[in-house]
Amino acid sequence: MLVDGFGRVATDLRVSLTDRCNLRCTYCMPPEGLDWLPKPELLTDDEVVRLVRIGVERLGVTEVRYTGGEPLLRRGLAGIVERTVALSPRPQVSLTTNGIGLDRLAGPLADAGLDRVNVSLDTLDRAVFQRLAHRDRLDDVLKGLVAAQESGLAPVKINAVLMRGINDHEAVALLRYCLDRGYRLRFIEQMPLDAQHGWTRDNMVTADEILDLLGAAFTLTPDTTEERGSAPAEQFLVDGGPETVGVIASVTRPFCGACDRVRLTADGQIRNCLFATEESNLRDAMRAGAGDAELAERWRAAVRRKRAGHGIDDPSFLQPARPMSAIGG
Ligand code: GTP
Ligand code: 5AD
Ligand code: SF4
Repeated sequence: MLVDGFGRVATDLRVSLTDRCNLRCTYCMPPEGLDWLPKPELLTDDEVVRLVRIGVERLGVTEVRYTGGEPLLRRGLAGIVERTVALSPRPQVSLTTNGIGLDRLAGPLADAGLDRVNVSLDTLDRAVFQRLAHRDRLDDVLKGLVAAQESGLAPVKINAVLMRGINDHEAVALLRYCLDRGYRLRFIEQMPLDAQHGWTRDNMVTADEILDLLGAAFTLTPDTTEERGSAPAEQFLVDGGPETVGVIASVTRPFCGACDRVRLTADGQIRNCLFATEESNLRDAMRAGAGDAELAERWRAAVRRKRAGHGIDDPSFLQPARPMSAIGG
């Protein structure tokens, strides 16, 4: 098991498969992109699957989420998924993606055994999309959503980050769109994880503001029908339910106390928290010939050192050196 000093058990492994992305969302990356990791530093497909296998077989990992950057850019993704669902005990396997390419890949990924997808969608307006993501790809994302649902990658969850003066006027429209199509929408508070280090508390649209914006059109009541557990999203029934909307309030209502996550970066580093300041290098240990037992022990040690929480409110808070795209969302 992966247990930290506060008794939390990490069962949810988030694996970044690439730091590259085909969008440039302002809350994540500058328009010119970043210095991508050199190929030799990335884990190979076999190395990814080996570490995931160690997590599942020896360390109690029950859920595996592939992220990025943009994981659909990883050529071997379907093969990695197929080999992940073949592990025993079979983990739940999901994907967090920007949706570009899903129209083509949803079918093959579902066939490979993928259970579900979470897709980022911050706007329904082509011009806003272009301003926010610096690419004209809204239609591709919307097509991808349809394909995901038709392929049975359900429930399709949508992540929306609201930004003041950019897309915060679309909260109600986004929820209507998702309710009409059976997608489960979650609004996310922006976190200080952008490569440009441009986050400020004043710019962040808070959970309270999000609930106010939605309150203009819907009646929201806390959903007590399901245990929240370690889920980042607080769920609200929309107009009495059964449909819900989620709010992921990482900053104003942190959920670190129930955290069950551990991360593996595309270059093979274990991060015990999104905001970790240190990493444990399993790639080099693996390439130097470490066996499964030794890798598992290094991984356990990394999780033992996990801090109580992200500390965004501490005066001494320092944003991690890596941006979200290189950590894995
Ligand atoms: P499911 O609800 O199980 O599908 O997963 P999820 O919501 O954890 O997955 P997703 O990758 O869609 O993440 C959604 C958002 O949750 C991310 O954009 C982050 O804002 C937030 N999030 C995910 N993991 C963490 C975490 O470990 N810490 C914090 N503070 N926020 C996280
Ligand atoms: N704050 C909050 N969420 C973010 N995401 C990317 N960067 C940030 C940030 N700075 C979201 C994306 C995606 C998910 C994996 O993370 O919108 O849905
Ligand atoms: Fe877990 Fe760190 Fe995220 Fe808090 S910020 S929920 S401790 S990964």
